Amino acid sequence: MALGPPNEAETCRPCHQATVQAYLTTAHYRTSAVGDSTTVHGPLDPARGRLSTSRVGVSFLMALREGRPTLTATDSARGLSRTEPLDLVIGSGRKGQSYLYWYHGLLFELPVSYLTTANQWINSPGYQDGQVDFTRLIPPRCLECHTTAFEVVENAGTAVYSDNYRLGITCRKCHGDGTAHVEYHATHAGEKTGRAIINPGRLTQDRKLDNCGLCHSGARNLKAPAFRYKPGEPLDNYFAPPADRDNPTPDVHGNQIELLRRSRCFRSSPGMTCTTCHNIHRPERDLTVLAEKCLSCHQNVQHPASAGIGARLKSACIDCHMPLRKSNALQINTATGQGGVYYRSHTIATYPDVAAEIVKTWPDR
Ligand code: HEC
Ligand code: HEC
Ligand code: HEC
Ligand code: HEC
Ligand code: HEC
Ligand code: HEC
Ligand code: HEC
Repeated sequence: MALGPPNEAETCRPCHQATVQAYLTTAHYRTSAVGDSTTVHGPLDPARGRLSTSRVGVSFLMALREGRPTLTATDSARGLSRTEPLDLVIGSGRKGQSYLYWYHGLLFELPVSYLTTANQWINSPGYQDGQVDFTRLIPPRCLECHTTAFEVVENAGTAVYSDNYRLGITCRKCHGDGTAHVEYHATHAGEKTGRAIINPGRLTQDRKLDNCGLCHSGARNLKAPAFRYKPGEPLDNYFAPPADRDNPTPDVHGNQIELLRRSRCFRSSPGMTCTTCHNIHRPERDLTVLAEKCLSCHQNVQHPASAGIGARLKSACIDCHMPLRKSNALQINTATGQGGVYYRSHTIATYPDVAAEIVKTWPDR
């Protein structure tokens, strides 16, 4: 597998300055990094760098040791203690982060993660409270969704990850290998058409959806080893159909494709894809701006609820029709019960209960 240059985005910068500059601040680019005091968002100070559990004597301490973020798990009842570094960070930190450590050429998940909304350390999703478990192996598929490239190599007869890898999601994940494109344009100044590069904007609707579906169509069984899919190819050659394909309400975590498929917007609009609304090259946080995308198709709608909505038609548009929903797949066990993570449902529809609740919070109603 070709890994590409160490910092691929920089090789595109000379000719796509504005695109690259904005892209470097996106969640895609920041979704994985080497762990240090800037990339780890969880607090490492003595006051807050701690997670207590409901099991007596079991706790976790997160701190900088000689400049490196580390986790120490203590089980004082059994007289056990183990320290591992937060070698790699997974997650830009918009919702949260998980941390991996290297062990004999393999990567394992640390038992503690960080939840941004609560601004605190939590048991990693799926772990029991009070459990000290360092044995959860990170499979290549996890890295396929959260990094650009990882190689599996043989070392003394066993498969390990090569230390030659590329973190962050970079251009090649969606555009393919750009080497020939860069070489061509470096010697053909003035050429107005991009050559020898995949522009997903020119793919068919299905291949466009596949391009995002590599990572946004939920849990799927593999038909081939991870990291084989290339942009422009049919995803079904590499993966079994999504487990949620026949589920009327797919989980909101990581499965925007199946959720969107269930909306009338999608079913009644030939050619609608993710990029109908999303500009992938920059962060998008302004919901009023995103609502403009809805109005590009719904400009003539006499909104049936408009009397009750008034001036907030745009600013609350997304909250009413793509409400936040709790993920059932992401299970977070705390010392006192269960916590949750909320995502936008991409099943765009009318949710009268949600709308009624939102209208209630408006002071002038
Ligand atoms: C030496 C200059 C140069 C470099 C370096 C360069 N490009 Fe381009 N690229 C161009 C030109 C010129 C075009 C055509 C005009 C335009 O669309 O901006 C283009 C167009 C494109 C297009 C649109 C192609 C189409 O079919 O519409 C994509 C996608 C693209 N580049 C991606 C990349 C990526 C990814 C990199 C880095 C790996 C990169 N470029 C590096 C010059 C360059
Ligand atoms: C997550 C997927 C993804 C990544 C990563 C990505 N792009 Fe794109 N890119 C797209 C899509 C999709 C389009 C087509 C947009 C459309 O048609 O609306 C596109 C279009 C382009 C174009 C054509 C002009 C335009 O904006 O439509 C250029 C140039 C480009 N990308 C450069 C880059 C560079 C440089 C990087 C890395 C810094 C990069 N892209 C990373 C998905 C991606
Ligand atoms: C290689 C895997 C991968 C591909 C391909 C990919 N994504 Fe993502 N996407 C992710 C991951 C992982 C995140 C979460 C990043 C984070 O916050 O750590 C994400 C986050 C996002 C977000 C939220 C960004 C934010 O700022 O909160 C949007 C929107 C998105 N992706 C759209 C797309 C679209 C549209 C495409 C196809 C053009 C696409 N993605 C292709 C993996 C991918
Ligand atoms: C099929 C692709 C896929 C796989 C496999 C996957 N993720 Fe994700 N992950 C995503 C996407 C997409 C998002 C963001 C959007 C969402 O959750 O709906 C995300 C979000 C996250 C976030 C939150 C990021 C943030 O800042 O909000 C963390 C942490 C995370 N994943 C960790 C992991 C770990 C650790 C593994 C492997 C053990 C893993 N993921 C496996 C696609 C994937
Ligand atoms: C590509 C065009 C397009 C975009 C973009 C779009 N829609 Fe739609 N939407 C449609 C079409 C077409 C229908 C079906 C109309 C019909 O069947 O009468 C629809 C239906 C709907 C419905 C009725 C759903 C139902 O189940 O009865 C709602 C609500 C809606 N859209 C809201 C939105 C919102 C909010 C956005 C932005 C987040 C949006 N739409 C973006 C084309 C679009
Ligand atoms: C306060 C919540 C709220 C806001 C804000 C809101 N809607 Fe709605 N919308 C509703 C409700 C509730 C209905 C169903 C009303 C009914 O059936 O009587 C609805 C119905 C619709 C329909 C279906 C119309 C039909 O004839 O079936 C469309 C399309 C739609 N909304 C689009 C939008 C778009 C686009 C925006 C933002 C630009 C928006 N809405 C803002 C609550 C809202
Ligand atoms: C009709 C418009 C529309 C379409 C089409 C659309 N999205 Fe979104 N998406 C949104 C809006 C609006 C948000 C909310 C942004 C926010 O909260 O910051 C969003 C948020 C997201 C997020 C962040 C999830 C979260 O809960 O924070 C991801 C990931 C994402 N979209 C991926 C996709 C993918 C992949 C596709 C294609 C299957 C897609 N989107 C299609 C409008 C759209």
